[in-house]
Amino acid sequence: MKLFQHNGLHLFCVQLLITLASLNQVFGRSFTVDYDQNCFSKDGECVQLVSGSIHYFRVHPSDWTDRLQKLRFAGFNALETYIEWASHEPEKGTYEFSGMYNFTDFVLKAQQEGLMVIMRTGPFIDAERDMGGLPYWLLAENPDMKLRTSDPSYLSLVDNWFANHLLPKLRPLLYSEGGPIIMVQVENEYGSYGCDYEYTAHLRELLKNHLGDQVLLYTTDGGSTSYLKCGKVQEVYATVDFGTGTNLTEAFRAQRLFEPRGPLMNSEFYPGWLDHWGSPHSTVPAKSVSDFMDSILALGASLNVYVFHGGTSFGLTAGSNLGDVFQACPTSYDYDAPLSEAGDMTEKYERIRAVVAKYLSLPSMTPPTNSTKAAYGEVLLSPHTSLFSAAQTLPSVPSDSPKTFESLALFNGVVIYETVIDFMTTDPALLSFKAVNDRGYVYLDGVLVGLLARQQEAYQVPVFARQGQKLTVVVESQGRVCYGSGINDAKGLIGPVKLGSTELRNWTNTAVPLTNISWITPSDDAGSAMMFYTGTFSITGTPSDTFLRVDGWTKGIAWVNDFCLGRYWPIMGPQQTLYVPHGILKTGDNSITIFELESAPDGSPGHNISVAFTNVHQINGPTPDP
Ligand SMILES: *[C@@H]1O[C@H](CO)[C@@H](O)[C@H](O)[C@H]1NC(C)=O
Ligand SMILES: *[C@@H]1O[C@H](CO)[C@@H](O)[C@H](O)[C@H]1NC(C)=O
Ligand SMILES: *[C@@H]1O[C@H](CO)[C@@H](O)[C@H](O)[C@H]1NC(C)=O
Ligand SMILES: *[C@@H]1O[C@H](CO)[C@@H](O)[C@H](O)[C@H]1NC(C)=O
Ligand SMILES: *[C@@H]1O[C@H](CO)[C@@H](O)[C@H](O)[C@H]1NC(C)=O
Ligand SMILES: *[C@@H]1O[C@H](CO)[C@@H](O)[C@H](O)[C@H]1NC(C)=O
Repeated sequence: MKLFQHNGLHLFCVQLLITLASLNQVFGRSFTVDYDQNCFSKDGECVQLVSGSIHYFRVHPSDWTDRLQKLRFAGFNALETYIEWASHEPEKGTYEFSGMYNFTDFVLKAQQEGLMVIMRTGPFIDAERDMGGLPYWLLAENPDMKLRTSDPSYLSLVDNWFANHLLPKLRPLLYSEGGPIIMVQVENEYGSYGCDYEYTAHLRELLKNHLGDQVLLYTTDGGSTSYLKCGKVQEVYATVDFGTGTNLTEAFRAQRLFEPRGPLMNSEFYPGWLDHWGSPHSTVPAKSVSDFMDSILALGASLNVYVFHGGTSFGLTAGSNLGDVFQACPTSYDYDAPLSEAGDMTEKYERIRAVVAKYLSLPSMTPPTNSTKAAYGEVLLSPHTSLFSAAQTLPSVPSDSPKTFESLALFNGVVIYETVIDFMTTDPALLSFKAVNDRGYVYLDGVLVGLLARQQEAYQVPVFARQGQKLTVVVESQGRVCYGSGINDAKGLIGPVKLGSTELRNWTNTAVPLTNISWITPSDDAGSAMMFYTGTFSITGTPSDTFLRVDGWTKGIAWVNDFCLGRYWPIMGPQQTLYVPHGILKTGDNSITIFELESAPDGSPGHNISVAFTNVHQINGPTPDP
């Protein structure tokens, strides 16, 4: 009897669910692929997606609405964003979803502006972010972890992040549940990395189990068969990506080989391109972008502009690439996008808007405007403390050979390695390293004697070294590799260090976190290398966006009101100024801190140690000859 009742109740519930599900269908709220009409179908109607990428983690939250309104004003009907695992689980088991990391808020704001949302959950995203958005601590768990594969040591951590944290937050934001999310991406350009179908099928099932069977899943891969071969996931809709100059027919033919019917979609159409320190600023002419976009839309294809607005890799979150050489990405993610790094509507924006108007109706809304830029002028700085004094308050770890950033639980910043030379040396003695990730400053008894750099593969330096001297190597991470096979990119001194033929042992390792420097206290050891400098400046009235000029400074990191603006390196270029969003400024006194790794401006009498806030951004400065 009991069993019978239970079954009856169960049947009733199932029927109720079916009724609710069909009500849902009746009242719309469905987003699918229509294989008969070769289109995306929203509530049963064909829709051409004109979407733009904006990453919430690259825009200060006080500007989210502004940037979303500018996307909508250009006629776009969808927003696309990545979710960055590393930002949300910065240390294993520690979660962050507030402020700049509150994607719920970002997605709801997009909905308020009338935008649909395409969500890219990774877990790997590339995006020119440190380790492609994967948390650095994966490499502490297991340095040889086979990232982006079905390696159980990797997958169990992905499962926990998706099932217990990310997907429960996304589910209520799905279109079928009343939210704006219409599509969810599986991995990211997986076909250019691996071919582990078990891995991508596992991600598909994870997404379906936690977002429901109805959710429209898709993949993005380069527009050629070779990428799609390993990127295509069964039961997941395959799309392609490409920029201007690509043969449209061929790129979409590649998609058609894998999706014989359904909408054509370029899910990453590049309106510009990324930069590297030391290489000229990338640009793509506005007219060729709008013309090419026109030719894509004319086919009835859907597209997503990657990126519509790039923003800034605030903090120490920029990644790097491994081409023929190591190439670190700068702080600016301007990308020559339609909206500039500071959110300005460029000529490219206007041209794109005119093209979109041919296919979708432009919204009637108050036209958005460029933000006001202020020139707050010169700010005098004074020495605050040296790195070495500051680091005395931090724990040091002894080890036989140097430890990596990851094994010291350090996301980003520098590690100070020290040892004492306890044998008789030659003159000179050749100090050699297997690898230095990514730059090393070599000191003997506190005097700078050499520079090591991954970008130039400079791993050896002849030194005047004597028995009993203290060798110090300060190693800076320039951002973990974000693309390709080199993403297991441990930072620090890698492998044995030798002086002549003798391996140096007995190191002390001091990890120095630099995104948040609230732990630093002043000291009076002015004049030594690697100094922190501070100053204050006053703002009357409502703060405006501004740009930090660091002329005369060499390489380092800048903070305003303890918000880490990112790395500067004007002597390498092309980026000369750092974007300072109004949202981190306040009326009255504001503080600035600079950490200079190499050489600060001359502070002798008659000269000022200073920086300046200007109203002009410069990201296309000169770069060295290759
Ligand atoms: C994120 O934003 C939503 C919507 O504005 C809000 O309800 C929620 O409390 C925020 N979450 C956090 C952790 O701040
Ligand atoms: C694009 O590719 C197609 C098919 O391979 C070819 O017929 C066509 O000429 C190409 N178009 C351009 C502009 O190269
Ligand atoms: C907005 O800024 C862009 C880029 O700086 C500039 O090209 C454009 O003319 C500005 N628009 C207005 C109305 O000032
Ligand atoms: C290692 O270095 C420490 C500090 O310089 C020193 O006290 C110790 O004797 C050294 N140990 C060995 C085995 O060389
Ligand atoms: C820096 O860390 C301190 C201590 O954990 C915290 O109170 C502060 O809010 C952090 N500052 C920023 C800008 O995140
Ligand atoms: C140094 O700063 C003071 C105060 O801002 C200014 O008057 C002076 O012109 C500056 N000197 C130089 C050499 O820039």
